[in-house]
Amino acid sequence: MDNRIIIDEKTRHDYPDWIKRVTAGDGGESYLLLGDTKTALYDCGMAYCGDKLAENVREELGGRPLDYIILTHSHYDHVGGLPYIMKAFPDAVIAGGAYCADILHRPGALKVIEELGRSAAELYGADPDTVITEGMRVDIKLEEGDVINLGGHALEAIYTPGHTKCSMAFMSEPDHLMFASETLGVLLPRSNEYQPLILKSYSDTIKTIAKCRALDPKYIIMPHFGIVPADKMDKFWELVERMNREEYDFVTNLCRKGADFNELLDAYTDRYFVAGRKAEQAEDAFYANAIPTIKMYAREMGYELKGEVV
Ligand SMILES: [Fe+2]
Repeated sequence: MDNRIIIDEKTRHDYPDWIKRVTAGDGGESYLLLGDTKTALYDCGMAYCGDKLAENVREELGGRPLDYIILTHSHYDHVGGLPYIMKAFPDAVIAGGAYCADILHRPGALKVIEELGRSAAELYGADPDTVITEGMRVDIKLEEGDVINLGGHALEAIYTPGHTKCSMAFMSEPDHLMFASETLGVLLPRSNEYQPLILKSYSDTIKTIAKCRALDPKYIIMPHFGIVPADKMDKFWELVERMNREEYDFVTNLCRKGADFNELLDAYTDRYFVAGRKAEQAEDAFYANAIPTIKMYAREMGYELKGEVV
């Protein structure tokens, strides 16, 4: 399967001067954006390395205040470090999608974020008891077209539902650089394999992909990966469009043949949990995405899924 874009490590982390990679540990990326007048932290990574993230941010700020924290969506590997950042920078203003604000208000959602943060801490050899979720919130509820002006660089919010209902991407001008959300999928950092990440809605994802492509960004920063450079953008869009459609067609064609849930999950696992992805993703993390994806595809095509639906 042609599902890779080869981008070497140096190129994918070759950020312009105003973007500092402050990622503090495996599992989530964070960037500090240094505008002429304002600063912003873009995503917060995992809880287990939240204190280290705050240290990295402080070092790169060089005495400047942290003005904003920008959240792409409410998943634990993007918001986990937020409480630690708020302890270190209590005056920072948190900006995220309006629906993300709702989610971070829900005790049930915070419990899931905490549980997943604790498992990640164990996985990465940190102390799960240091995981906290206090202070999770959104202060500025962003809608499509809202602009965060950092001075010299302005980030325009793009609503990108599909991966979740709360996903936001951002277009930075005048750079014409897109900070993608996971609705455009992910590139696995070691194998460079592309993986769709449709959890909430296939039809929304297809619309989001078309909307983002029409904006024609010069280059993109992809979640968990880094830069997709200008000379790889044609290949990138071809891959994103083809792989997302291919995954949906694969599942829905099996539904049309009458497959039950277990048959779908087995077939999906045989097809997609291979090679690069198998080397870079834990089995339970694969199933945590595969199960809701399969159920959602069946639901969206109006197929009554039988069998062991967990
Ligand atoms: Fe996510």
